[in-house]
Amino acid sequence: MTAKRKIRVGMIGYKFMGKAHSHAYRDLPFYFDPEAEPVMQAIAGRDQEGVRGAAEKMGWASYETDWRRLIERDDIDMIDICTPNNAHVEIAIAAAEAGKHILCEKPLAMNVEQAGRMLDAVNKAGVVHMICHNYRFVPAIRYIKQLIDDGRLGTIYHIRANYLQDWIMDPNFPLVWRLRKEVCGSGTHGDLMAHSIDLARYLVGEISEVSGMMNTFIKQRPLGEMSGGLNAQVQGDRMGEVDVDDAVAFLARFEGGAMGVFEASRFAKGNRNGNRFEINGSKGSVRWDMENMNNLSVYMEEDEKGLQGFRTINCTEEIHPFTGAYWPAGHIIGYEHTFINLLHELMGGIAQNKSTMPNFEDGYRNQLILDAVERSSETRQWVPIPSKGEV
Ligand SMILES: NC(=O)c1ccc[n+]([C@@H]2O[C@H](COP(=O)([O-])OP(=O)(O)OC[C@H]3O[C@@H](n4cnc5c(N)ncnc54)[C@H](O)[C@@H]3O)[C@@H](O)[C@H]2O)c1
Repeated sequence: MTAKRKIRVGMIGYKFMGKAHSHAYRDLPFYFDPEAEPVMQAIAGRDQEGVRGAAEKMGWASYETDWRRLIERDDIDMIDICTPNNAHVEIAIAAAEAGKHILCEKPLAMNVEQAGRMLDAVNKAGVVHMICHNYRFVPAIRYIKQLIDDGRLGTIYHIRANYLQDWIMDPNFPLVWRLRKEVCGSGTHGDLMAHSIDLARYLVGEISEVSGMMNTFIKQRPLGEMSGGLNAQVQGDRMGEVDVDDAVAFLARFEGGAMGVFEASRFAKGNRNGNRFEINGSKGSVRWDMENMNNLSVYMEEDEKGLQGFRTINCTEEIHPFTGAYWPAGHIIGYEHTFINLLHELMGGIAQNKSTMPNFEDGYRNQLILDAVERSSETRQWVPIPSKGEV
């Protein structure tokens, strides 16, 4: 038997997403038999004590205090970018130029210009690249994709998606990097709406035109830092200006003729991670909600009259994507498994030197839509999105 190829990973940033990714590298070979096996070779962070502690706790073999050093190392095959958005562009381009495969957290970049340079760099280098839109890897969502591709929902007419959270509603919640344009590019928009846009592109197709609005409800906050997960700490008694959106909404037309209604907010009391959508086609509809992620609500016109209605499917049967790797039917999986599923496909992509979806092109197209919604909100005009052949 030939030994399985090992992919030696170097991960940059080790808090919220760093933890989710670390867990997924550890568990991937436990559940799946991936074509290539990730090796948790090294992590990078700026604080020596912090990065050493994180490496020990999460099971990484070594650490660096400068991400550039990680990219220079010959014993690293792939770079995983788990830093705030402003650091993605420089790290990704350096990693591509060094011939490393790349997994990058979303949104791909701060703006279209950066995303375009990142896409050019990975194409030029011929490395495998992926963006971490992990919700595509929820079994229920992958199953919706199959239903749509098989024509079971018919012609798609509508998607209405909202992604609602409430963790910054307290006016004393500090001005963390997620609320500072120079670090994040945009607020709720790039953070939450980017996921809804990715799911819409994945399930319904390309968007051709958008009309948007954005709002910032609390304009001054005490200074502070993220401290892991979505928690944060105030630092000192100085205040700073919030220069990104707290909430965003937009209307969209799809190239295929469907209509989209999208809303994302961090000011929706009671919604912790309410990533939801409904899709209506000529033959059926589906509804999904991340806070109940194993379940899928389905309406099929083909059902016998009298028994028609939305039914709830628990997407944990062998037939549902990814679930065979885990537990018997009805034994549900969670948020962390979306990252394991994603890494399974990425390892397969690297083993075969094949692009794995969603990739940097998806990240770039997502950024085109994010930017267009921002421009539309400023100008109060509909903004067209260039089609695939045009950019
Ligand atoms: N896929 C998802 O659902 C999802 C969820 C949350 C965050 N994200 C994305 O993941 C990325 C990171 O977010 P997070 O929530 O993990 O943030 P976080 O604040 O929890 O962690 C960021 C990490 O990056 C480190 N860092 C910051 N600047 C750095 C630099 N210049 N060099 C090296 N390390 C640096 C920090 O020290 C920290 O370890 C962001 O792009 C965010 O949008 C994606």
